[in-house]
Amino acid sequence: MSGMMTSVKHAPEAHAGGADTAADQQTLLILGASGDLTARLLLPGLGRLAAVDGPGRLSLVGSGMEDWDDDRWRQRVRESFATAGADAEPATELADTTRYLRADVTRPEDLRQVLDACPGQLVIYFALPPAITAKACAALAGVGVPPGTRLVLEKPFGTDAAGARSLNQLLVRIVQENQIHRVDHFLGKSTVINILGLRFANRILEPVLNASHVATVDIVFDENLGLENRAGYYDHAGALADMIQSHLLQVLGLLAMDAPPTLDARDLRDRKAQVLRATRVWNDDPVAFSRRARYTAGQIDGRRLPAYADEAGIDPARGTETLAEIVLAVDTWRWAGVPFRLRSGKALGSRRKEAVVTFHQAPRIPDGLTGCDQPDRLRIAFGPDRLGMDLNINGPGDPFVLDPVSLEAEFGPGDLPPYGEVLRGVFDDDPTLSVRGDTAEECWRIVEPVLAAWRRDRVPLQEYPAGSTGPADSLLHETPPRS
Ligand code: BG6
Repeated sequence: MSGMMTSVKHAPEAHAGGADTAADQQTLLILGASGDLTARLLLPGLGRLAAVDGPGRLSLVGSGMEDWDDDRWRQRVRESFATAGADAEPATELADTTRYLRADVTRPEDLRQVLDACPGQLVIYFALPPAITAKACAALAGVGVPPGTRLVLEKPFGTDAAGARSLNQLLVRIVQENQIHRVDHFLGKSTVINILGLRFANRILEPVLNASHVATVDIVFDENLGLENRAGYYDHAGALADMIQSHLLQVLGLLAMDAPPTLDARDLRDRKAQVLRATRVWNDDPVAFSRRARYTAGQIDGRRLPAYADEAGIDPARGTETLAEIVLAVDTWRWAGVPFRLRSGKALGSRRKEAVVTFHQAPRIPDGLTGCDQPDRLRIAFGPDRLGMDLNINGPGDPFVLDPVSLEAEFGPGDLPPYGEVLRGVFDDDPTLSVRGDTAEECWRIVEPVLAAWRRDRVPLQEYPAGSTGPADSLLHETPPRS
């Protein structure tokens, strides 16, 4: 996968005579430059990438509705780079030369002016709310873009399968599918990428990762953060769309897919698409196999949190969930009958961010060995980045009494934060780490029965105090279903 191995595409040596050509240069145009996503995630990722790889011949142009000038924008870029420790050359060079253009990018005239100000190969990053992104894309389809332009879009990609399909149809009027990068920053997390090496570069684990040996797979992302001033976005999304439909299904895709022959964009994304196409709600019963809940007031690490329904900008009548759980079946030879339980929640008492593969008990324990009632487990933690294997072994005291032991390996963070990793793929023209159009639609198809059951109120909206372990009626507390 070139995106993970190579660096930001450096300009080739200058052509004979030393003249620069526009083709040597890339411009990253950020639409929504004054927004929160740009400051918190995108610029720090870019700064690290520039610091690690050098900016090559990259220019940065920011565009937004705010009445900023170049100085104000450069200040924003420097501050964000500093949060990622990218405050030395060559990142500073990028910050010192970047430009800001005020524009309403849903207006074709404004868009045209912005595009004219961007030299070389163009990368357009839509760091905008989904509805504005759709309008900007519609305007862009009329205006047209220079050949080779890449488009980078944030999640959520549409709000349902039909919406994702029409956005896809609009995008391919502007550029080809391979030039569209649908960002899922989980695919840039080093432990998520490590799933590939863990599964396909040794012969220990892969032979047992199937229904004969595996009892359940849990993919859990419990956060202790609450809403963090994101009411405008989150109250319309909720935990299912915000986390499960996007990030956790991508993790399921990597965990459950068959080995691709190469890690090229096409091979890897074909395998992921294949397994997601075979994924559906367990027993096709979204009422029995989904849960939703939202937090009430509580305390986390000494910090008081108001009830979600009382947070500024929230409409309690929308009934948005801050915790979601679903059980999925993967209808393939390898995984038939193995429940995949996905859960994500906010404002929980402890952080638990991991995928856990639980194995069946050993078929027969020799008489004479006692004390082992724990199943073996493989644990892949997404922060802190760690791999763990829980096994039953002979205990240290009485050697005939078994004890569980945990073999652990720390991965440590990668060289780049997830956004840096994802941007590297974009600059390298390598869509491996982005979500392909068909897969974006497929992920909505998987969760739609659940959303429909919730809309009809077939699944009660439970409550849990902030700082607790979540609702009492959790699918993770139940014995996993069997087919
Ligand atoms: C984002 C979600 O995509 O991922 C947030 O919108 C969530 O709600 C975040 O908190 C979690 O990712 P990370 O990598 O920041 O922990």
